[in-house]
Amino acid sequence: MRQHLLGIEYLKKSELENYLSNAEAFVEVSQRELKKVPALRGKTVINLFLEPSTRTRASFEIAAKRLSADTVNMTGSESSVTKGETLIDTARTLQAMAPDVIVVRHKESGVPNLLVNHISRASIINAGDGLHEHPTQALLDCLTLKQHFAAQDRPLEGLKVAIVGDIRHSRVARSNIWAHKLLGNEVRLIAPPTLMPPYAGGAGAFEGGVQIFHSLAEGLEGADVVMVLRMQLERQSEHFVPTIEEYIAEYGINEHILRRYAPGAVVLHPGPINRGVELSSEVADGPRALIGNQVTNGVAVRMAVLFALATGESAISEQESA
Ligand code: NCD
Repeated sequence: MRQHLLGIEYLKKSELENYLSNAEAFVEVSQRELKKVPALRGKTVINLFLEPSTRTRASFEIAAKRLSADTVNMTGSESSVTKGETLIDTARTLQAMAPDVIVVRHKESGVPNLLVNHISRASIINAGDGLHEHPTQALLDCLTLKQHFAAQDRPLEGLKVAIVGDIRHSRVARSNIWAHKLLGNEVRLIAPPTLMPPYAGGAGAFEGGVQIFHSLAEGLEGADVVMVLRMQLERQSEHFVPTIEEYIAEYGINEHILRRYAPGAVVLHPGPINRGVELSSEVADGPRALIGNQVTNGVAVRMAVLFALATGESAISEQESA
């Protein structure tokens, strides 16, 4: 059992599948009248969110509470990081209070990997680091797809997955590319050249695993899954598209274009959605969107990850989920 979850890149297929099957067991806990199991009683989880976040932070907190762990939430403005304390000092201070898990979100890529080198006892979970990875988002996306396709007797394998939008600035895209490569799905990246990440060129880690499209029509053709990403304006230091109107005309996902090129596709979006920009409200609120399921599954996936890292056990016993 691994001590940390830093990224999907570092996982084996069996580990990814193990997280998904444990998460499936935890989905049911959230449907109960009393949404709590004793699995992490006496364990402490610190949520260290040094970048704005609503849904991921709430999701981790709810997940920890449903497992009966004690949780402490620290945000950027409340922590001593704003007083000039280095991140490593903050981490050491937190470690001295003996938490079992530290969940960290940071605007810089690589922060969770850095913390691991300075923390010996607690497990680190990456809740999104810069442009690098957001592994629990990819896991919840995979769980959502697994459930959807299982209902049609299709495995989470051999699917055509199109990722559309600001891929360059998206840690969600990176984690999902790793995940779908592991699962044996076809990954297509669709974006204007300026929003395509440098790693997508064919060489390097993703070689052989992703197809690049600059035309929405070509990239969407026959897709089973369309994952739509937000324009990450806060991470852009220059203008990557001429105008938002042109972007919408070329790359905006709406019902008309889906009916034409990928009529059977389901749509995912990690949120927050810019309605009318990357995704029309008709699609976001329509039957092919699995966005609500993604949020629901987020809690179950985070329960599975917290459980695995805090206990070191790979399977949930009946007693722990009772
Ligand atoms: C994503 C993120 O922060 O990386 N959102 C999320 O975790 N819910 C994607 C985004 O911000 O667009």
